Amino acid sequence: MNILVTGGAGYIGSHTLVELYAAGHTAVVVDNLSNSSQESLRRVETIVGANIPFVQLDVADRTALAAVFAEHKFDAAIHFAGLKAVGESVAKPLAYYRNNIDSTLALVELMLENSVNNLVFSSSATVYGDPAELPLTEQSRVGVGITNPYGQTKFMIEQILRDVCVANPQFSATLLRYFNPVGAHPSGTIGEDPGGLPNNLLPYVTQVAIGKLDSVKVFGNDYDTVDGTGVRDYIHVVDLARGHIAALGHMQPGAQAYNLATGTGTSVLELIAAVEQAASKNIPYEVVARRPGDVAACYASPALANTELSWRADLTIQQACVDSWRWQSQNPHGYENH
Ligand code: NAD
Ligand code: UFG
Repeated sequence: MNILVTGGAGYIGSHTLVELYAAGHTAVVVDNLSNSSQESLRRVETIVGANIPFVQLDVADRTALAAVFAEHKFDAAIHFAGLKAVGESVAKPLAYYRNNIDSTLALVELMLENSVNNLVFSSSATVYGDPAELPLTEQSRVGVGITNPYGQTKFMIEQILRDVCVANPQFSATLLRYFNPVGAHPSGTIGEDPGGLPNNLLPYVTQVAIGKLDSVKVFGNDYDTVDGTGVRDYIHVVDLARGHIAALGHMQPGAQAYNLATGTGTSVLELIAAVEQAASKNIPYEVVARRPGDVAACYASPALANTELSWRADLTIQQACVDSWRWQSQNPHGYENH
């Protein structure tokens, strides 16, 4: 298949490109590089041994995107493009609603106009808000207790895509609800490159390990969890990427959500210990106040994706830490200076 990949220069998009080419597909990437560097695509091209067409554009720019549809024939689109920083979304709600929703509307309008009927969308565990039950399943309650505009955009876009599928019975929307993506490609050449202070735990911990940051701030140790710290379902980004290939192989008309998760929860202290082992370093940390909006624990059953998509997460959290550490130590400044 030839796949339109929006946001393909980003963290998850770049790893998915590698798996797309490994599975025999081809891709055209569009990205405005607002949170990424074209260097990631150059490195993906080295890994896959092919040139990947790239157009720098804003997905919400219908005219620019229409030209891409006019030039290429697509079998499906994977829609990664979006802003994703939870805290920033609280400070800049309009920017988040505008970017994430407008880009989706423009993409889906052009897909329908061009008879491209298969869409894989990057949704998030955030749609479950404050989990009503654990492990979460696709039947679990969604939309209650979402604490930030970023999460609301994911919830709203899922609903928009369901409505599009009702009105267009030929259209297929697969809503992949990612849990916590971590790790990097085992080559150490592509990985997560957060600008500024990392928002997410694992890049923060590896930056402490390499000496760029002094100590990990553990956001609370008084939750009702194994050791009092927050528990999450960390999934290796290569497993996550492969979930998209599985989804492309099982596109059915209508909207269907899948949890891309491992089923296992890991605490903050357990994750720090795993990086200590991977990096053979002692990682200093201090416990600070809880972060507003955080839930105690969030992990999910991947059973539906296991049975319907024939997909499962194979890589361990230890492997993810080894791969993250390899990426961090080989690229201490990420894609900078390239
Ligand atoms: P990322 O920021 O690395 O990648 C997103 C890419 O989209 C970037 O390259 C950015 O430049 C591009 N982009 C943003 N808005 C755009 C626009 N209007 N037009 C064109 N390009 C645009 O993020 P990621 O971690 O790779 O996440 C990919 C998707 O998965 C996002 O939709 C994100 O919300 C979702 N997601 C991520 C996580 C996570 O923890 N990383 C968890 C759940 C869901
Ligand atoms: N944490 C720390 N210190 C840090 C960063 C995080 O203790 O410096 C803790 C958090 O409190 C949480 C865990 O580490 O218990 C994981 O935090 P992350 O920020 O890495 O991930 P979240 O689960 O909070 O956020 C993720 C995605 C969001 C998404 C959210 C809800 O990054 O995009 O899940 O699904 F909205």
